[in-house]
Amino acid sequence: MPTVILISGAGGFLGSQLAAKLQEATPDAKLILVDIVAPNVDKTDDVLPLQSDLTDPNQCDKLFETNFGIPETVYCMHGIMSRGSEDNFDLGIKVNVDSVRNLLESTRNHCPASGPPIKFIFTSSLAVYGGPLPDVIQPNTIATPESAYGMGKLTSELFINEYTRRGFVDGRILRLPTVVVRPGKPSNATSAFFSGIIREPLQGLESVCPIGNSIDSPDLDLAVWVASPSTTIINLAHAREVPASKILSHTRVICLPGFTTTVREELLALEAVGGKQALQFVRFQDDPTNRRVVSSWPARFDNSYGLGLGFSVDEGGMEPLVRQFVRSLGL
Ligand SMILES: NC(=O)c1ccc[n+]([C@@H]2O[C@H](COP(=O)([O-])OP(=O)(O)OC[C@H]3O[C@@H](n4cnc5c(N)ncnc54)[C@H](O)[C@@H]3O)[C@@H](O)[C@H]2O)c1
Repeated sequence: MPTVILISGAGGFLGSQLAAKLQEATPDAKLILVDIVAPNVDKTDDVLPLQSDLTDPNQCDKLFETNFGIPETVYCMHGIMSRGSEDNFDLGIKVNVDSVRNLLESTRNHCPASGPPIKFIFTSSLAVYGGPLPDVIQPNTIATPESAYGMGKLTSELFINEYTRRGFVDGRILRLPTVVVRPGKPSNATSAFFSGIIREPLQGLESVCPIGNSIDSPDLDLAVWVASPSTTIINLAHAREVPASKILSHTRVICLPGFTTTVREELLALEAVGGKQALQFVRFQDDPTNRRVVSSWPARFDNSYGLGLGFSVDEGGMEPLVRQFVRSLGL
């Protein structure tokens, strides 16, 4: 029997890249790719793209009734990003909490009567942290979010932990660093500018930096915890390979490895790769809401638990991430 893997949010940035990675790394697998916006892939014998609104429990159930059979892994990656959740509280809760619970419940109800439960891999975020924090986040640091997005992610995490404790699913909760450089159009994430200030200038387009009012501003020392798209996708694929027994039982949370950079270091990396002219496409316009949310996120984590589970980390700081983006443009 082929392995069946379901990815929600498969029309998005990470979901679509994960689907491509799994097709390459596990060619025998069958993929069910679901998103509220139809995933931009062809239907084949091994790939089933579906358009579904997962806020509807019936549509979640239908994902387990396709002719591909019951998935052995569900990647729950759909969602409303941070600024979107902050600006539209009700939509954020409906998608980031209610629909995750719908998918979790459908997964539970379709788990085979015998054998291991379905792996339920959830993409959470460092936005679950807020308030006074230690200099370095440890696996046992308590999460006290200060945004609707972080609160929604943490709420879903609690459900997944409990469903795992009861044996309903095998939950694996990945708290992702901010992924840079994100290709394509700007997202509605509060963190979108961390990619935008590199992506747009390298293509000769203006980008607004919402932190600080000039290149000399001390505000540019704002630190952020990041990972590259390629390392993030490797880690998402790895998450289903980790033996269940190796993950702590009282919490299924794993902070994916990352590294600390600052807005200033990003701009220096932009200049190193794109030259001084690239910097001129960055326009500074301080945004207090954006600054408040981003500043509440931690920027230093202890990577040892994630590395011990076999997850990967980027090496060499920001510049390789900028070069990775340039390569993705085919430049
Ligand atoms: N990219 C990052 O830096 C980052 C960092 C931390 C966590 N994450 C998490 O990783 C996941 C993927 O992030 P991304 O950057 O690919 O986001 P994205 O916005 O590109 O993709 C999310 C997808 O979810 C879909 N979606 C929204 N509502 C839906 C619904 N009701 N039913 C079905 N699909 C729906 C959207 O259409 C979109 O394609 C998200 O859960 C996000 O919170 C991302």
